[in-house]
Amino acid sequence: MPRRKLRVGIIGVGGIAQAHMQGYAKLKDKVELVAFCDTILERAEKGAKEFGSPKAKCFTDYREMLELKDLDAVDICTPNKFHAPMAIDSLKAGKHTYCEKPMAMNTEEAEAMVRTAKETGKKLSVGYPSRFSDDAQLLKEMISAGELGEIYYAEASAIRRRGVPTWGVFLSKELQGGGPLIDIATHILDLILWLMGDYSKPVAALGTAYKKLAPLGGYNIWGPWDPKKFEVEDSAFGMVRLESGATIVVKSSWALNTEEPHPSYLCGTKGGAVLGGGSTKIFTQAHNRLIDLVPLPTQSRDSLIDREIANWVECLLEDKEPLVKAEEAAQVTRILDLIYKSAEAGQAINLI
Ligand SMILES: NC(=O)c1ccc[n+]([C@@H]2O[C@H](COP(=O)([O-])OP(=O)(O)OC[C@H]3O[C@@H](n4cnc5c(N)ncnc54)[C@H](O)[C@@H]3O)[C@@H](O)[C@H]2O)c1
Repeated sequence: MPRRKLRVGIIGVGGIAQAHMQGYAKLKDKVELVAFCDTILERAEKGAKEFGSPKAKCFTDYREMLELKDLDAVDICTPNKFHAPMAIDSLKAGKHTYCEKPMAMNTEEAEAMVRTAKETGKKLSVGYPSRFSDDAQLLKEMISAGELGEIYYAEASAIRRRGVPTWGVFLSKELQGGGPLIDIATHILDLILWLMGDYSKPVAALGTAYKKLAPLGGYNIWGPWDPKKFEVEDSAFGMVRLESGATIVVKSSWALNTEEPHPSYLCGTKGGAVLGGGSTKIFTQAHNRLIDLVPLPTQSRDSLIDREIANWVECLLEDKEPLVKAEEAAQVTRILDLIYKSAEAGQAINLI
């Protein structure tokens, strides 16, 4: 007998949800979008009209949506503040749950989400599309095969010279929890940790956060921001030591007087790599010479979000573990949280 399609509901039908819905639409034979929830009803209705199944239902209260008996999975695309409470309620309602990045506002929330997924036996994953790029997949294979040796130093950079998001609620401390560190460094830190394959405990951190350019305004690629609404940091930096002995330097900004692009680095005992600065390069040596390897671009044209949604759907249908495991996403939140706490305390934090 043919298996029925997976039935998914979306919470928060704003900007990023559009990319998710397009990803599901490309898997029409496997999945249908049957429920849409947004506090702004028109957004839910628009999503249902464009991407929903014929009898799709719309809600303004996600708890009512979670009461649907035949809903298999929920995809959370709301501001950061709601990720943890919505994901926990969704898992408890028996739904597999996919949550946009960052997983949560802080460590406690992230750990509660991981715990709830374990207790309910439902799958929980987080949106980190960078892992699905061809270069990331290549680096992962090379590192897993031991070709870079032990990676003991990394730089995770998410630096924008002037790229302050001026739409939505990105400048709200209450709704987002922070600025570029929680918003964009979360992507590159996840990628670096996954490539290193080092999820040992963070044992020390020194963080700093600044709001130097936010009050000044001026040029911005997405138009001027309102300094009065800028409640979060405009740049933040951290150095973290893991129990394994590895060091990770995290750099993030929405506004900083520096150069772009600002690549990230992985440094191992046998080789290294640069990524995110235009072209990926692998640093190695052979026959007593230093050699750079440059992977040529591939032909693939599908979006990274299409790939992450396809991975999530496949894992639900075939009962496999998604590429992004909840515990790994929680580690990203733990490290970012430590950097924020150190910045706030004005001193290093030692957890040994
Ligand atoms: N993966 C990526 O590259 C990426 C890109 C952009 C945003 N994001 C993440 O996605 C999330 C949403 O960002 P966005 O840019 O789509 O924001 P957005 O403001 O465009 O959309 C959020 C939507 O959630 C709705 N909403 C707010 N509170 C709600 C509630 N309690 N119940 C139901 N709906 C509610 C809003 O009305 C809005 O339509 C954020 O966590 C952000 O970090 C990820």
